Amino acid sequence: MSATARKTAPMPDDIKAMKGGTPIVSLTAYTTPTAEALDEHCDFVLVGDSVGMVLHGLPSTLGVSMDMMVMHGKAVARGLKTAMMVVDMPFGSYEESPERAFRNAARIMGETGAGAVKLEGGVHMAETIGFLVARGIPVMGHIGLTPQSINTLGGYKVQGRDAQRAQVMADAEAVSNAGAFAVVLEKVPQTLADEITAAVPIPTIGIGASAGCDGQILVVDDMLGLFTAFKPKFVKRYGALAEDMEKAIAAYAKDVRARSFPAPEHVFADAAPKAKA
Ligand code: KIV
Repeated sequence: MSATARKTAPMPDDIKAMKGGTPIVSLTAYTTPTAEALDEHCDFVLVGDSVGMVLHGLPSTLGVSMDMMVMHGKAVARGLKTAMMVVDMPFGSYEESPERAFRNAARIMGETGAGAVKLEGGVHMAETIGFLVARGIPVMGHIGLTPQSINTLGGYKVQGRDAQRAQVMADAEAVSNAGAFAVVLEKVPQTLADEITAAVPIPTIGIGASAGCDGQILVVDDMLGLFTAFKPKFVKRYGALAEDMEKAIAAYAKDVRARSFPAPEHVFADAAPKAKA
């Protein structure tokens, strides 16, 4: 069913059932107004840990905390009616053990009302994914470039070229076999993304992957042209909101300095004198 025709939010199994059909549409959101704008257009909205870089000025996603994810998850939930919400598990909240992952995922689900959590990692996270799914927590996987591991990956490089190709395929299969309902493929070669999409029974959600994936996701501030510190090759800008914002702020500052704001229509008259009886 298309996002516009839907009356209620899909469940993870509904997203899974979209495999091979009309492409799944997704963007990130971190605030209520953005969530409201995305709701009717997206099948699911991701409260990504990219929030750390996009809204909090952090240099990477590594400094994002559970409290930040819960706070932004609650804000996004207030803006959604018909899109499912997925919340990222931040760095350090799930890698140590399946039990720790469960405690933190249960907090995210319970406090934000998310439909699912997303966590990064393939073969080495399969046990944890299986542990969460068996205990009632739907999981979206995330493989290829996993930004929480930039220090061991050596930066934001394309993953799965040449020698790493078999590893990324094995990661996709492991995440799928462990019970994830969908998997994000980030920054992998197009042909590999297409092969993975054909090989696994769950939807692949591409970001810097291939138009042949079962769905696509972008960071909303990137595609709106609101986050301009850098632009990854895989981002298409559909707006130039940072420029619009700059123009609006400059116009306001000019008006204030010229005393042309506030104008008569923005100010209040004295109370009208009371008529005598
Ligand atoms: O944190 C994020 O925003 C993400 C994606 C864009 C996939 O993980």
